[in-house]
Amino acid sequence: MTDLTITSVSRESRIFKPPAEFKGQANLGSFAAYRKLYAESVNAPEKFWARQAKEHLLWRKPFKSVLRWKLPHSKWFSGGYLNLSENCLDRHLGTHRENKAAIIFEGEPGDIRTLTYRQLHREVCKFANVLESLGLKKGDRAAIYMPMVPEAAVAMLACARLGVVHTVIFGGFSSEAIKDRVNDCQARLIITADGGWRRGRIIELKGSVDRALPNTPSVEHVIVLRRCGNEIAMAAGRDLWWHDLMARAPDLHKARAHESETPLFILYTSGSTGKPKGVLHTTAGYLLGVTMTTKYVFDLKDADIYWCTADIGWVTGHSYVVYGPLASGATVLMYEGAPNHPEPDRFWDIIDRHGVTIFYTAPTAIRAFMRWGDDYVNRHRLRSLRLLGTVGEPINPEAWMWYHRTIGKKRCPIVDTWWQTETGAIMVTPLPGVTPTKPGSATLPFFGIVPKVVDEAGHEVPRNTGGRFVLTRPWPSMLRTLWGDDERFKRQYWSELPGMYFTGDGARQDKDGYFWIVGRIDDVLNVAGHRIGTAEVESALVSHHSVAEAAVVGRPDDLKGQALVAFVTLKAGIPPGGALKEELRNHVAKEIGSLAKPDTIRFAAGLPKTRSGKIMRRILKEIAAGGDVKGDTTTLEDFSVVATLQQAEE
Ligand code: WT7
Repeated sequence: MTDLTITSVSRESRIFKPPAEFKGQANLGSFAAYRKLYAESVNAPEKFWARQAKEHLLWRKPFKSVLRWKLPHSKWFSGGYLNLSENCLDRHLGTHRENKAAIIFEGEPGDIRTLTYRQLHREVCKFANVLESLGLKKGDRAAIYMPMVPEAAVAMLACARLGVVHTVIFGGFSSEAIKDRVNDCQARLIITADGGWRRGRIIELKGSVDRALPNTPSVEHVIVLRRCGNEIAMAAGRDLWWHDLMARAPDLHKARAHESETPLFILYTSGSTGKPKGVLHTTAGYLLGVTMTTKYVFDLKDADIYWCTADIGWVTGHSYVVYGPLASGATVLMYEGAPNHPEPDRFWDIIDRHGVTIFYTAPTAIRAFMRWGDDYVNRHRLRSLRLLGTVGEPINPEAWMWYHRTIGKKRCPIVDTWWQTETGAIMVTPLPGVTPTKPGSATLPFFGIVPKVVDEAGHEVPRNTGGRFVLTRPWPSMLRTLWGDDERFKRQYWSELPGMYFTGDGARQDKDGYFWIVGRIDDVLNVAGHRIGTAEVESALVSHHSVAEAAVVGRPDDLKGQALVAFVTLKAGIPPGGALKEELRNHVAKEIGSLAKPDTIRFAAGLPKTRSGKIMRRILKEIAAGGDVKGDTTTLEDFSVVATLQQAEE
């Protein structure tokens, strides 16, 4: 193969200027200010990061050096001491934030609870004392397998206070996933709940933990929060009730300072193949990354009610539900359950009742809302909203426009934030009130971040040409290694393109320097010598009025190398049929050119997704090639989707 670059076929060209009203009050008020600060951040990075670290973090002992970089290993703010939970809690006590709501919680059944910074601090102190009383100490690992309730944040912050490394396991994962993760990091403790509410039903969390426990010899204790009141087994001596332990725990806990590079958490990220990778983040650099991005990307103000819909089982829940917002003194809304319970307007109802001002969610959720219909949205005013965000995958311009009009009422800027579990914090993003936005583009790099689009040899490709998306400088919140597997860390991220961090994504940069992510590079298709990103073809399909969602994969083809197979979910009430297939093929040809015209269209009631909403293309590839679905499917949200797809005619 000679043509190593990616043909970009997107023709999106709309630009949205920052609304004047938003601009006037933004934390960073002008594009010129962004340019200036960005230039400083890349021209004199150590000076820049040192100043930011002093300004944003509360230190017990100042750091001696800013960065020690021995590719691919970094040490940030060496010699400095701080306590992360003190940065999120204690620092707000004695200020105007002491009695401000830190967390407003709404359970799926409708129960509402508010914890002020003072109250949250007390809970965290008590739970830190509980952990110490069980003999946990700095460096030990604890697993957290909980519903989206305030106690999940309490558990994380208490671990951080002690330097106990937490690994949060998403509550939708099976006992198999618990077993693998707990064994990989040798956790001494599991913190869980009897259950959590989801679509009116109880997810039996303790039951899943019990099924894992016979095969997790490192676990000494299980702490169980009573959330749903469902009947569970409690093994005497091993299993302990949260409320019993908390009733006896002292409510003050003096936080010790930890060195900057103290491990904070391990988060397992599955990727599409292979054993999950234990991404390791450490204390000071991570905290700086999430705090700065919270301030600038979400334009956070004291009066905001901030809602990121991610579960704490994902990195988004770590960085933008717990650590970034709390370190910034925000009021965080936390919701336990499903977006369509009891009806598909639950989110809009929550926004109106609590006066949510900043709303951050995923494109997959936005497409679901579009599919459920505007009527559910239009029952609510959504007047409090001032800023919208997305994360998780490229947002197709169609969904972006819907978000802009129907949710944002054309008034709210949208921040399309590109980042990864590995990057810890947002890397490429518009700044609201500052950056003109283009639907579907994550726009420009955050301070200190130098992304590039390169070819297979690592050379930068010309503008508007697709290629590999890399980060060429170290940044404070970068992953430090993969837990217990430094070789894999080097191989996975640092060996494909020497000297650079390879994201695994494909991207192009347009004439204005804006970045457009075209999907995972493994998903780039080679059609008759053209390399095409799946995201662009999917976006063209979804721009047709009948289509709710689409996933495009390649199928080996003797003639073309790869043929394009599109799996398409139609909007409610649209009948499938041969004529519509032809119409969709022609629609793609019209939108982006005949080279991207799908060879086959298959209608599907649902697409195979991970629990975080990412389409599992590997499975679709196997189905498109006519084979069986092999390999790991434990991260699949709903296996019946696969069975239905396999039965469906071509
Ligand atoms: C991958 C990282 C970052 C928190 C949630 C996902 C894709 C993420 C965007 C975006 C285009 C995006 C990339 C990335 N992705 N955000 N705004 N535009 N693609 O974390 O599970 O580690 O996934 O998600 O492919 O590499 P993750």
